[in-house]
Amino acid sequence: MIEGHYQRGALRVACLPGDCIGPEVMAVAQRVLGELAPDLRLEDHLFGAEAIRATGDSLPPETLQACLAADAVLKAPVGHPEFDAADVRPEQGMLRLRAELDVYTNLRPARQGDVDLLIVRELVGGLYFGAKGVREDGTVFDTCEYHPTQVERIARRAFELARTRGRRLTSVDKANVLETSRLWRRVVHEVAADYPDVEVEDLLVDNAAMQLASAPEQFDLIVTENMFGDILSDLAAAMTGGLGLAPSASLGDAGPGIFEPVHGSAPDIAGRGIANPAAMLRSTALMLEHAFGRVDEARALERAVDAALREAPTPDLGGKSTTAQYAVAVVTGLAA
Ligand code: NAD
Ligand code: IPM
Ligand code: MN
Repeated sequence: MIEGHYQRGALRVACLPGDCIGPEVMAVAQRVLGELAPDLRLEDHLFGAEAIRATGDSLPPETLQACLAADAVLKAPVGHPEFDAADVRPEQGMLRLRAELDVYTNLRPARQGDVDLLIVRELVGGLYFGAKGVREDGTVFDTCEYHPTQVERIARRAFELARTRGRRLTSVDKANVLETSRLWRRVVHEVAADYPDVEVEDLLVDNAAMQLASAPEQFDLIVTENMFGDILSDLAAAMTGGLGLAPSASLGDAGPGIFEPVHGSAPDIAGRGIANPAAMLRSTALMLEHAFGRVDEARALERAVDAALREAPTPDLGGKSTTAQYAVAVVTGLAA
């Protein structure tokens, strides 16, 4: 090969701007990435409500292919009142994307004051993906299903992560009622045998919600199944400043991860220019760290986000700044 002839392609980020406040917070993330990592190639793709209107499918084949071929997927929230009762809904595409990329580990960090918690949510199993339908008598059902290997791989990830933190892990289930939770608990303890340096505790989900609401600082890492993780992560966000601040990273064993806020598309404030883009920016920082190993840039962005939260808080935090004013504060902070 002639020296210099072969050029590695630029790193590609498939961007999914989503619905309602989605494009508003995505625009801020893209502006910040333009400053912080101008070499990344950002490509927008049709997804969610807009994709349904244009193609009848919330995750069109072109978008799926682009995500599979990208180095990371940066996603803003989807969901639109227009489709809440429709047969084809934006959220279905999102679940399909998670399954196609097999991003079974969903990291949802929550930090504020003396709380420093990581929720590790199983993302491609359980009630979201089990058999569902309508019986002849009109009964509607969703089924919670887990295979032991699905529990084992998320448990192993969680123990590995616990080793990088406080070496304490709380496994949340409902083993007093559910078969899938008894499987969960058994497999977590089998995996625990390989991690004798990590302290393990089991907690029933109802008690976990109560403890999170009353003394969240007691937790270091919570690992739990899909639906419990969905609910507990909104609660953890509420305990640490609110949904506008909570990011997530969804990772598989190989292939691109998905980086997106915990919050939804907030139709109640869409179009007013007041959405808090901090969760989207913190998700962008998680992308820089986990997808690209750019830890320095990730930390710089996190610091700029924190400083802007103090200087230019948005209305959800009791402040008066618009999304655009908050964005200026972040960009200024990055340059400082
Ligand atoms: P939501 O998270 O969109 O909003 C809950 C409350 O938090 C609202 O009052 C909203 O204004 C506020 N909020 C959320 N994010 C905010 C932000 N960045 N800045 C300021 N305030 C913010 O939850 P919802 O109203 O139950 O759901 C709305 C839609 O979002 C639904 O269609 C749902 O399916 C979808 N949803 C999508 C995702 C996703 O794409 N990841 C996640 C959750 C919900
Ligand atoms: C989240 C959301 C999604 C979930 C919905 C919109 C499918 O609430 O990412 O937390 O339940 O996983
Ligand atoms: Mn949720």
